[in-house]
Amino acid sequence: MHAAVITAFDAPPVYRHHPEPVANDENELVVEVLAAGLHHLTRAKANGSHYSSTGALPLVPGMDGVVRDRFGKLRYAALDDTNLGTFADRTVIDQRRSVVLPDGVDPVQIAAAMNPAMSSWVALRRRITMEQGQRVLVLGATGNAGRMAIQIAKRFGAAHVIAAGRDNVRLAALPALGADETVTFDQIDRAADVDVVIDYVWGEPSARAMIPLLTARADRGAPLTWLQIGSMAGPTAPVPSVALRSARLQIVGSGIGSVPARDFLEELPALAVAVTRGEIDVRARRVPLAQVSEAWTAETEDRIVFVP
Ligand SMILES: NC(=O)c1ccc[n+]([C@@H]2O[C@H](COP(=O)([O-])OP(=O)(O)OC[C@H]3O[C@@H](n4cnc5c(N)ncnc54)[C@H](OP(=O)(O)O)[C@@H]3O)[C@@H](O)[C@H]2O)c1
Repeated sequence: MHAAVITAFDAPPVYRHHPEPVANDENELVVEVLAAGLHHLTRAKANGSHYSSTGALPLVPGMDGVVRDRFGKLRYAALDDTNLGTFADRTVIDQRRSVVLPDGVDPVQIAAAMNPAMSSWVALRRRITMEQGQRVLVLGATGNAGRMAIQIAKRFGAAHVIAAGRDNVRLAALPALGADETVTFDQIDRAADVDVVIDYVWGEPSARAMIPLLTARADRGAPLTWLQIGSMAGPTAPVPSVALRSARLQIVGSGIGSVPARDFLEELPALAVAVTRGEIDVRARRVPLAQVSEAWTAETEDRIVFVP
């Protein structure tokens, strides 16, 4: 078969022949890959920088995707740490880490959407108790996950969603997705009385936003829940200690590890239905897997989805 193969952590993968996959126990299935997204986590695992990276080469990247099993069923599968990912004609999945997809799904749309969409879907459903009518701020709202977070927060009862980003042109597109207000990071003091922050940036922009957001709280005793999900602006943030003392700020992380795999899996079918019904706006760019080396470094706002 063919696969995208990484032989050095500082170079893009190369499309080439690779040995056929083999299932090792009764939970494993050899499956045909239909579509697999190039997510941030995929890149981090592929360049060896992610904490779960095994450091072993050669490596076929791809941490999730839409596959067809030997019974013809389409599944969305998330792979555990492995050197044989989804950027291949065929791979091995653990069927316990997969869900059978409803009829009529578009594999490319699902492969593009599941990772960014589940970030806010799972956080709002499994890490906090979201109340109807709350006010939500999305930091990093112009990205794939942030755009979906606007729509998903509304779906789960947010009355008012403020979208924050650094690019005015990209921010201008967000009211069409349901954002009630848009602000740049420098205008964060305009985001009044927010109950929940969905944070994809962290680093300096998040740390700088804390005091203005807490000061703008009508009741400082009411919780402001900060969902830490991504770290596009930096892996660490200098959180002011006064932010934690002077108001009821609670910082809650959400991701693989802080949310059990079982909880992720339970949420996936409903998310797949929402994507299939077009209830979540997905920006996907379908790319043949044979073009993996060129696409690896391409600048695009759309989520690249490799199709073998
Ligand atoms: N924990 C989870 O469950 C989970 C799941 C999925 C994703 N994530 C994480 O969420 C983050 C976003 O993922 P994504 O798929 O939405 O990525 P994306 O589509 O590439 O979007 C990145 C976003 O971050 C912004 N950004 C990038 N660098 C920035 C900087 N230096 N300062 C401020 N903003 C910056 C971008 O703004 P511009 O539009 O201006 O470029 C854009 O809004 C990543 O860190 C990813 O690993 C976490």
